[in-house]
Amino acid sequence: MIPAARAPRPDDDPRYAVALVCLGNICRSPMADVVLSAAVADLPVVVASAGTGGWHVGEPMDRRAAAVLRAHGYDPSGHRARQFDADWHDRFDLVLAMDEDNLAALGGPTERIRLFRSFDPLGPGEVPDPYYGGDDGFEEVLAMVERTAAALAEELRGR
Ligand code: 4NP
Repeated sequence: MIPAARAPRPDDDPRYAVALVCLGNICRSPMADVVLSAAVADLPVVVASAGTGGWHVGEPMDRRAAAVLRAHGYDPSGHRARQFDADWHDRFDLVLAMDEDNLAALGGPTERIRLFRSFDPLGPGEVPDPYYGGDDGFEEVLAMVERTAAALAEELRGR
């Protein structure tokens, strides 16, 4: 179940708004942003991503994350890292954290602030940080992200 859209919308945008949040906004949440955006392209849904930290603001996606996305047919080129701002809590209907640290930094869990993988059909958990690991970690993240985004897109379609 997903929470109802905020009413009235702060900016009068009628689309359901989903924010995806990790630590650096160069690996996990940008991958989830690209994949979920593709899955809801035909729906009145807007997707954005941010990091709880600001070290990488303005940078493109991590090259390993971008390579895995490209290998699976996605376009990672538009991403530029942003830091989560408290006003996103008013602007977004659903704020989804990649791991428990991100969730705690966002002040969750609440009805609107949850783990992204609470929608994983294989069961809830974290999206592990692949930044300090090898290429396998990025493939693993993409698999989690693809199945979770597909399930979340179905929920959004059913609204
Ligand atoms: P992300 O990965 O949170 O999935 O974007 C990380 C990116 C950068 C750092 C940590 C995690 N960092 O420490 O710079």
